[in-house]
Amino acid sequence: MYQTIKTAVSALKTDGKAFTSDSLAIFVFGKKAQLSPAYKQLDEAVGKCVSAHLKRSEFSGNAGDVAVLYPEVGVSRVYVVGLGCAESFTANVLRLASKNLCKAANGAGVKKLAIAGVEVVKKYVDEQQFGEVVAEGIGLVCFDFNEYKGAATGQDKKAKSNALTIVVEAGVKKGVDRAVAVNEGVNTAKRLAATPPNVANVPYIEKYCRATAKKLGLKCSVINAAKAKQLGMGGLLAVGAGSVSKPALIILEWAGKNPKAQPDLLVGKSITFDTGGYSLKPDGGKNMKYDKCGGMTVIGIMEAVAKLKLKQRVVGIVAAAENMIDANAYRVDDIIKFSNGVTCEVTNTDAEGRLVLADALAYGTKTYKPKSVVDMATLTGGVVVALGSVCAGVFTTDDKLMASMQDAADKTGERVWRLPLWNDHRKQMQGTHADIVNSANREAHPIQGAAFLSYFVGEKAPREMPKMPWMHIDIAGVASFDSETPMYAKGPSGWGVRLVTEYLSKR
Ligand code: BES
Ligand code: MN
Ligand code: ZN
Repeated sequence: MYQTIKTAVSALKTDGKAFTSDSLAIFVFGKKAQLSPAYKQLDEAVGKCVSAHLKRSEFSGNAGDVAVLYPEVGVSRVYVVGLGCAESFTANVLRLASKNLCKAANGAGVKKLAIAGVEVVKKYVDEQQFGEVVAEGIGLVCFDFNEYKGAATGQDKKAKSNALTIVVEAGVKKGVDRAVAVNEGVNTAKRLAATPPNVANVPYIEKYCRATAKKLGLKCSVINAAKAKQLGMGGLLAVGAGSVSKPALIILEWAGKNPKAQPDLLVGKSITFDTGGYSLKPDGGKNMKYDKCGGMTVIGIMEAVAKLKLKQRVVGIVAAAENMIDANAYRVDDIIKFSNGVTCEVTNTDAEGRLVLADALAYGTKTYKPKSVVDMATLTGGVVVALGSVCAGVFTTDDKLMASMQDAADKTGERVWRLPLWNDHRKQMQGTHADIVNSANREAHPIQGAAFLSYFVGEKAPREMPKMPWMHIDIAGVASFDSETPMYAKGPSGWGVRLVTEYLSKR
């Protein structure tokens, strides 16, 4: 599969004959579609094969259908990509159709693909949006991870970077370039997530962050285990105690226009492998390399923010540890104390994500006094039971923050669903011999996670629901997929990079 997307400009409308690409794609609405008059010249340049195809009985133009034509002149292939009926058009229809186009082009080994269609959908999206959505769709499947393929697959040499060049008009290119920048962040999140736990341990992630920060003009700083001890980060240290890789908070900062401004803060759970600890997972933790996805998403977002050169200041904290079993590992019944003074009785060592997030949230909100906080975590299997794998569960008491995130979800197609978070849920977490427990009972698991985290948002440990605008996003159902879905390929999804980058870019 392609790994990267490049862009080039060509005036398709006026000099369709001078193709610089080997292939051409044109988007059309379904059944009884007429070729847009704007593309008459383009059609002529490929021997009128498009208009001829639209008249054929087998033409359907259903949303996501991709037909390939082999014209005698112009280019070697023309893809006619269906958008279904105009009445039900949404950006997501265009996005998913573009994804299918990319798969078809990849199958044929296309290197350079001219894309026409902005005239067809101009009632719905402007040219920049068109470019953005098409490139997002292509980006959904532009990812390959063969670093660990060996002699048996014949792919043991790192495959040469395989790029697709998209050829579009100047106004469209602006949108394409934006989506490509964000997609590079998505692919970072996917690549790090896919990297196995015997490689992607805490020091590996730290090293990656330092290198990417240097390249992109971000600041990277690290609170290592020794510093965490001084700061009293009992949650982070307890979870990491059983691993040979010491835990850390890895901090990436984008200064924006005003490095003194109140930042937006992101926090990501980054458990490089989750065995469950002494509350051992029955299957030993299959697929729990993906338990670092919240943090990897934060890294991907910070890369995208730097590439887009956003105006506002953004701070991202990756809360990294490995949850292992060992003589030094933490146990059930331990009482731990977090950096904001809150104490917690460990009732389940498999509810570890909230313990590392607690110290990260307390430190981040105290140190940076952010104007908003968003944390992302593969926190609970319960959210997957409740909502499945078609959206993330979100928790907030701030309706304005909810509305902005909802807008970003509508725009990007990365869907969220709000679940309640009330003081009753905070009470549910109260402990017997400590302030709180990390897991209370069998009721409302995903909400317990959010309620637990609410004790760590704010400059001081909040006695009531935090006042600071804060959202917790439980991505356990969407961070990776066992098989292909309409939007995502099998494997890690980089879910949230597009959503949260969009959210940040509107602030
Ligand atoms: N990392 C898991 C949650 C998870 C489960 C993510 C499945 C992705 C797929 C988390 O650390 C965990 O084990 N949560 C427990 C919490 C419980 C012990 C309160 C769970 O969901 O069962
Ligand atoms: Mn766990
Ligand atoms: Zn976990």
